Amino acid sequence: MTKAIFIRNASQLVTLHGGSDAPRVKAEMSELGIIENGSVWIEDGVIQAVGTDEELAAKYANRLAEAELVDASGKLVTPGLVDPHTHLVHAGSRENEFNMRLQGKTYMEIMNAGGGIHATTRATKAASHEQLYKESYNRLNQFLRHGVTTVEAKSGYGMDWETELKQLEVAKELQEKHVVDVVSTFMGAHAVPKEYKENPDEFVRVLVEDLIPKVAELGLAEFNDVFCEHGVFTPEQSRVILEAGKRHGLIAKIHADEIEPYEGAELAAEVGAISADHLLKASEKGMKAMAEKGVVGVLLPGTAYFLMAESANGRKMIDLGVPVALSTDCNPGSSPTVSLPFIMSLGCLKMGMTPAEVITAATINAAHAINRGREIGSLEIGKKGDVTIFNIENYMKLQYSYGVNHTDTVVKNGRVVVKGGQLIEELSLS
Ligand code: NIG
Ligand code: FE
Repeated sequence: MTKAIFIRNASQLVTLHGGSDAPRVKAEMSELGIIENGSVWIEDGVIQAVGTDEELAAKYANRLAEAELVDASGKLVTPGLVDPHTHLVHAGSRENEFNMRLQGKTYMEIMNAGGGIHATTRATKAASHEQLYKESYNRLNQFLRHGVTTVEAKSGYGMDWETELKQLEVAKELQEKHVVDVVSTFMGAHAVPKEYKENPDEFVRVLVEDLIPKVAELGLAEFNDVFCEHGVFTPEQSRVILEAGKRHGLIAKIHADEIEPYEGAELAAEVGAISADHLLKASEKGMKAMAEKGVVGVLLPGTAYFLMAESANGRKMIDLGVPVALSTDCNPGSSPTVSLPFIMSLGCLKMGMTPAEVITAATINAAHAINRGREIGSLEIGKKGDVTIFNIENYMKLQYSYGVNHTDTVVKNGRVVVKGGQLIEELSLS
């Protein structure tokens, strides 16, 4: 049994209490449930009490000596941040394509010429399980250093059974061995492999009849995702792929309306997806359909920033009642970052969201986007002991003072894993 942890006297303790059953919408996204001079008692990996320091010091008066004390005075305390959309498990990087894009080539041109997702697929195919594990493990450490305690991870840099399986097995091993929680998504429908270029429907058939059933049977993923985009998978093909996943118990997710409007948001609502992600070019009709069905809009302003495109209209989505979450989209092509706090700044500056809304979007709503709203995303009794402490006094400063890693301490499952901005020794992979 681990020692109890007593986090004391935060200048602001952002609890986000009261949102575990459904993602938050509209004005609810601004209700942070802040406790000034707030404290949290965590034991057996679980939050046992939340309140003012005075209340908790009285409640645990005769147990103070046995707890590990974490002094949060002058600091901001939030639930551990949740990243609901990453391509964590991949090999290599694509700075050459970054350079090409700066000289005028587009993301889709590079992909259609055999680069882009295909380039990372080649690198991922060539990497051994151990190499892939090591690269991804180190990325998880970087996420943790930025205050992120749960990460969704997609496959999709294989698109054949062997490599998809390798990515999913790496994600599984990371979930077992790394302290950050890794939630797995199958994304065999990330691109059409070149051998199927002339007959993409045949690849859809392989996904539906072979890969999806195998992934589900092995229990290697909870979600099934598809890149629904002009020149990749059509809405019709995407529907077939997502419905097949549902028949096998995989919850639908979708990369929707990223580069061109393609009625991806509408499709997400129609198939009952848990989230529709990107949405830069989503139609108002699609947004309304998402709001009606409670589909979480996972917005990725880092991708728009990096692709030099206009961000999704987060403000409009919130006003229309879409529950909005934020994510890095961490991947080597369109968003090579692990800094969710930087993405939160972009949420304010590029999507018209308020600092309070982006906090909700990166915690409780992000948890709902990966079906974890009851376990994480808020500081409430019974939830996992996942807490991030930032070296700033209030929540607005997190977005205001951008591009700086303010993470001071991270508690994961009731254990201090980042201290003074540094990972604890045992997390380093030699
Ligand atoms: O979410 N849009 C499709 N997939 C990723 C990018 C993958 C890549 O370029 O390697 C995304 O942006
Ligand atoms: Fe993505």
